[in-house]
Amino acid sequence: MSDPVTNRPGRIFEITSVSNPTIKSIRALSLKKNRDAEGVFLAEGMKLILDAFENGWQIDTLIYANQMSSNDQLSTIAAKARVKGTNILEVSEKVLSTITRRDNPQMVLGVMRQVWREPPSTALNKSSVWIVLDRVRDPGNLGTIIRTADAAGANGIILVGETTDPYSMEAVRATMGSIFNVPVVKMSMVDFVEWRKQWPGSVVGTHLEGASDYRVIDYSGGPVLLVMGNEQQGLPPELAEACDHLVLIPMNGKADSLNLAVATGVMLFQMGKVLPPVGTQT
Ligand SMILES: C[S@@+](CC[C@H](N)C(=O)[O-])C[C@H]1O[C@@H](n2cnc3c(N)ncnc32)[C@H](O)[C@@H]1O
Repeated sequence: MSDPVTNRPGRIFEITSVSNPTIKSIRALSLKKNRDAEGVFLAEGMKLILDAFENGWQIDTLIYANQMSSNDQLSTIAAKARVKGTNILEVSEKVLSTITRRDNPQMVLGVMRQVWREPPSTALNKSSVWIVLDRVRDPGNLGTIIRTADAAGANGIILVGETTDPYSMEAVRATMGSIFNVPVVKMSMVDFVEWRKQWPGSVVGTHLEGASDYRVIDYSGGPVLLVMGNEQQGLPPELAEACDHLVLIPMNGKADSLNLAVATGVMLFQMGKVLPPVGTQT
């Protein structure tokens, strides 16, 4: 976002008023319609800003509390960001609280450009795993799945149908920085069902009425699409029919189902998309 007052990037502004128009426009990014209109989102905390920077994401505006101005790490980032045209806002803690709607806000925030990827090409490595999420509703689940996908080494996530926004503050927080390392694609269900026809590997859906135990499927034969159902309704028939296998994670106790993010983690680590055992990495 260029500064709405001056329209000139790469400048440093000191702001202490919560009614400053720039602050109001950043605060308005809590609404999806405003994020979509601007194509940006808000990331909070030094770790996320560093992750974004290291992964080459564009930071439109860097915002930090004035008491951080002598922090070495921040000064280095701010200097590099300014060269790339990032606006720098040095603000009061009250302004940060207003933007994040939190009493104890992070001391550093960034307004970033959203990135949406194209669907993966068919020329994929045999060990590729893409996660397909059907109408995921909960931003905490989505953020946790992005984080888990990153940790398990999955190649990316395809959001199918009406989903929660991966760029909401809650989802971004839950990714703990993995949003900058996991490609995210979105498609309608109709487009996904059509696109899936040229997928060169297997399509494994998880389903409470799955015919196979998730541990008996061989996931090593080629790239895999792992399809996970909506939190309330599970997989609709159209998506279940698009799968080669429907698998069940057997459960004890009285729970009807696993949480979506937990089920995704169980599947990913079962599929062998894990780092080599500790101590054997080269
Ligand atoms: C919270 S569950 C959905 C529960 C929903 N009431 C239903 O009937 O499917 C969300 C998704 O996680 C996956 N899941 C959760 N527990 C599972 C299990 N035990 N076996 C297979 N998949 C599971 C499925 O993809 C499911 O659609």
